[in-house]
Amino acid sequence: MYMHLGRNFSSSSPSIKTTRPISKTSSYPSLNNHCLRQLLSTYTILSFKNTPETIITTIMSKTQVHQSPPASPNLVPLSKPSSQANNGIASLPVQSAPALQKSPRSTQMGLVSSTIEAVASPSTIENSLSVKAVVTVKTSAGGFFSELGISGGIDKVTDLMGKTLLLELVSAELDPKTGQEKRTIKGYAHKKGHNEEAVMYGCKFKVGEEFGEVGAIFVENEHHKEMYLKDIVLDGFVGGPLNITCNSWVHSKYDNPQKRVFFTDKCYLPTETPSGLRRLREEELVILRGNGQGERKSYERIYDYDVYNDLGNPDSNGDKKRPVLGGKELPYPRRCRTGRPRSKTDLQSESRSESIYVPRDEQFSTIKGLTFSAKTVYSVVHALVPSLETAVVDSDLGFPYFTAIDELFNEGVNLPPLQKQGFLKDLFPRLIKTITNASEDVLRFETPETMIRDRFFWFSEEEFARQTLAGINPYAIQLVTEWPLTSELDPRIYGPPESAITIEIIEREIKGFMTFNEAIKQKKLFMLDYHDLLLPYVNKVRQLKGTTLYGSRTLFFLTPDETLKPLAIELTRPPTDDGKPQWKQVFTPTCHSTSMWLWRFAKAHVLAHDSGYHQLVSHWLRTHCATEPYIIATNRQLSEMHPIYKLLHPHFRYTMEINALARGYLVNGDGIIETTFSPGKYSMELSAVAYDKQWQFDLQGLPNDLISRGMAVKDPTAPHGLKLAIEDYPFANDGLLLWDTIKEWVTNYVNHYYPDPSRIASDKELQSWWTEIRTVGHGDKKDAPGWPNLKTPSDLIHIVTTMVWVASGHHAAVNFGQYTYAGYFPNRPTIARTKMPIEDPTEEELKMFWDKPEVALLTCFPSQIQATKVMAILDVLSNHSPDEEYLGQDPEPAWKVEPVINAAFERFHGRLKELEGVIDARNTDQKFKNRSGAGIVPYELLKPFSEPGVTGKGVPYSISI
Ligand SMILES: [Fe+2]
Repeated sequence: MYMHLGRNFSSSSPSIKTTRPISKTSSYPSLNNHCLRQLLSTYTILSFKNTPETIITTIMSKTQVHQSPPASPNLVPLSKPSSQANNGIASLPVQSAPALQKSPRSTQMGLVSSTIEAVASPSTIENSLSVKAVVTVKTSAGGFFSELGISGGIDKVTDLMGKTLLLELVSAELDPKTGQEKRTIKGYAHKKGHNEEAVMYGCKFKVGEEFGEVGAIFVENEHHKEMYLKDIVLDGFVGGPLNITCNSWVHSKYDNPQKRVFFTDKCYLPTETPSGLRRLREEELVILRGNGQGERKSYERIYDYDVYNDLGNPDSNGDKKRPVLGGKELPYPRRCRTGRPRSKTDLQSESRSESIYVPRDEQFSTIKGLTFSAKTVYSVVHALVPSLETAVVDSDLGFPYFTAIDELFNEGVNLPPLQKQGFLKDLFPRLIKTITNASEDVLRFETPETMIRDRFFWFSEEEFARQTLAGINPYAIQLVTEWPLTSELDPRIYGPPESAITIEIIEREIKGFMTFNEAIKQKKLFMLDYHDLLLPYVNKVRQLKGTTLYGSRTLFFLTPDETLKPLAIELTRPPTDDGKPQWKQVFTPTCHSTSMWLWRFAKAHVLAHDSGYHQLVSHWLRTHCATEPYIIATNRQLSEMHPIYKLLHPHFRYTMEINALARGYLVNGDGIIETTFSPGKYSMELSAVAYDKQWQFDLQGLPNDLISRGMAVKDPTAPHGLKLAIEDYPFANDGLLLWDTIKEWVTNYVNHYYPDPSRIASDKELQSWWTEIRTVGHGDKKDAPGWPNLKTPSDLIHIVTTMVWVASGHHAAVNFGQYTYAGYFPNRPTIARTKMPIEDPTEEELKMFWDKPEVALLTCFPSQIQATKVMAILDVLSNHSPDEEYLGQDPEPAWKVEPVINAAFERFHGRLKELEGVIDARNTDQKFKNRSGAGIVPYELLKPFSEPGVTGKGVPYSISI
C-alpha cells in the first residue's frame, strides 16, 4: 500500500477503537484541517479498547509515513541546502513492523508501540537498523506541562493530532555520490510515559545503512507552548545508544518556525566537523548572534551586546538618572542586549522593565528548584525588604546600643503579617521564624560563625588585619614598595599629594621589631590603598544625604609570627567647593581612650571603603560583570560542538540570569547597593573607574594578581613557581593549589584537542571568539595592556584557566563568606554615615563624641534598615542550594564520551578531593596563625565541596549567586 507523504491524515480514516471518549471541552489548537476534525470526531463517538497512545501510533502507521525534506529547511538562509532536496511528494511503502533490530532495546522506558514511524529510504530497508528515539522532556520546568499537567487531556489530544515533537535525524556525512547533504529521516515522537520529573516521548526510525552516523537531530515542537528538552537517546545502533544532551527550551513552532538543531555530544574543531554538519554548525551560530535589531522576546536565544544604560530609571524620577557605563568616558564590560525601548526622558538610557531578557536557556530559575539563588534573591528584594521597610519606620534610625544589634540574632525583628507570603518561610527557613504563641512572624538572623566562635572578634586589631588575608576581600592587600606614599591625583584639585603617614609614625608603632628602613627592605609593610580611587568622589558623595566619604590608606606591619599588625589609618578629604582646604589625619591604635575611639571611627570608615571595594570591584566587577562578555562571545562564536564551548559551558551557567537580576534590583539606581553602601548613587560609577584604572585580563589569574600586588614574586624553586610575601596567606595558599589543579585539568583538555599550535591558528571559531572578547565584550579596554595572544596551546590554557578560576575560585573566595564576616555589621559596615568627630565638628557633634562615643559610633554605622537589608541579602548570597553544582563534582556529558577527557576529569576530581584534606590539615596546624587559633574561623572558602546552606566553603563551577 502506498500513501502520500505529508502531515495530513487520509480522509478515509481506518476504524478506531478505544474505551475512553475524549472530553468535549478540550480545545484543539490549529484544528483547521478537515481530516483532523473527522478523525477526532470519530474518536469521540466510538467505543474502543486501546489506549490513546496505541491508537495514535496505529493511526500514524497506517495512514502516514514521513519523509523529510533536506536538513534545516527553516534555518536562516546562509548557503542553501543540497540540491537533492525532495520538494515534491513521494511515495514509500508503509512498514508495519521493524525489519531489522540489530541492537538491544533501550531499558529507559517501556514504549507502548512497536510500530515503525519513519524510514530512511525504500532502497535501504533490507539493510536498515531499527532505531528507537526517547526524548525526555522535563515537566518541573514550566512551559507546556506545567500548565496542562502531564496527565491532562489536551496533550493527549495534541498527541492524537500528531501535534507532538517532530524529530529529524541528520546524517553526519554528505552523500559521497553527490557531495550533498543526505535526506533527513523524519518521525513524530509521541508521549509514551512519564515519571515525577519528566515526560518521555518515543519514536522509531528505520535507518538505512547508507545513512551513516547520525550527527544531529532537528526538533520541531508542535505544541503551542515551549518545552524543556533534557536529552534525546537514540538506541538501536551497533555501537550502542547515541546520546544527545539538550538541556534546552524548544520554542513552539507557532512562536518561531525555525526548527531547533541539537548535535550529538561529540566535540569537533571547526575544520574537523563532519561534512554533513558544517552548514548547520555555521547557521546555528548565525541564529544565536541575531541581527542586533528590535526588542528581544523571552523565548529567543540571541546573545548580543549592549552598554550598561539600564541602571537608572529617569522616567520615574530625574534623580534616578544614571550615567551610561561602557564607552570612552566610563569604560565597562558589555552586558547582554535586551533591545528595550529608550527611556522617554533620557535617550541615552534604556527604559526599565520588571522582566529583563536573557537568552532562554540562561533562565535557570525556571528549571531549578525553589531554593535556586536567583529566585531567593528576587524574593528577598520583592517581599522581605518591603516588609522590613514597613517594620522599621524611621529609615535613618541607627542602633541605640550594641546590644540592640545582638537582638537581631536573639529576638529578631517583628515583621508585618506575612500570611500572604507564606512561601517566604519555606524559602528562608534560616531567616523567617514564626513565634508559636503569637501570630507574628519575625525575621531572626542566624548568629554568624565569627560571633559564635568569638563574641568580640570584630573588636580585635589582629582580626581586622587577619581578614585582609583570610576574609572575604583578600584581593586588596598589597606590599608597600615605594616611599613616601604619594597620590597621583592633581594636587590643584585634590590638595597636597604627600601622605601624612610619616616614618616617625611607623617607627613608633613597630618599635622593638625593627627600623622603618629594615621594614621596607625586608618587605614587612603592607597596605590597603583606597586613596586615589575614592578621593575624586569624596565631595560628590558628601552632597548625598546620610553618607560621607574619605580617601584612605591603612598600613600594616608583618610581625615575626607572620601575622599583620595594623599601624595607621590615614583619612583624607580634598579641598571643598566652599573653600575649605584639604583635610588629612592619621590615626593609630594607641591606648589612650580618645585616640582609641578615633581609631575605631577611622577603622569603621576603612571597613566601609573595603566593603564597597569588595562588593563593587572584587565581587561584582571582576567576577559577575567581567564574565558576562565571555559568555556572550562563547555562545556567538563557538559552536556547541566546539571543545572549548564544552569545557567552559558549566562555568557559565546561571551567571547571565543572576547578573540581570542584579541590574534590576541590586546595583540599579536606588537599589540595594546604592541605598546601603557609602558611595551611594556613585557606586557603579566607581566600579567603572576601577575597571578603567585597574582591570587587566592577565591580572585576573591568581599568580599574576598576587605578583601585581607585590604579594608574591616569581621563584622557580618554590611551590607553584611563586614565593609569597606573606607565607601564611590563606587565600593565596589555598588559591594557588586550586589554580594549579584547574590549570592541570585545562592543560590536559586543551592538549588533547590542540596537540600543536597550528590547530589554534587555524581554528576560526576560536580566533573569532578571542577577538570578540577583546574588541567587543571588553572592547573599551582593547588597547589596554594584559591581553595575551592566542597562538599556542599554552596561550589557550592560560586564557581558559583564568576564566575558569574567576568563575569558580575567585568568586567563591569573595562570595560565600559574606554572611560569616559581614553578617555582624560592626565587623564590616557597608557604610559610614558620619564624618570623623574631629573633622570640622559642630559643638553638638563634639559633645556627642566626648560624652557618648559609643552612640556616636553607632550613628556612624549603618541605620537599622540598611543593616537588616544587607544582612538578609548576604544571608541569601552566602547560601549553597541543595542542588549546587560544585567544581569537578560531575562531568559534562561531552567529557564522558571522550575517554582521554573522562580520565583527565577523574584525576581533576581526585585532586579536588585531596585539596579538601590539605585545607583541613592547614586549618588545624597551629603554625598557621592566620587561619588557626582560639576563636578564629578556619579558612575554608576555597574548600571545593560543601553541604547545602551557609557553610563558608564550597566552590561551585560558576557564578550562580
Ligand atoms: Fe556573587
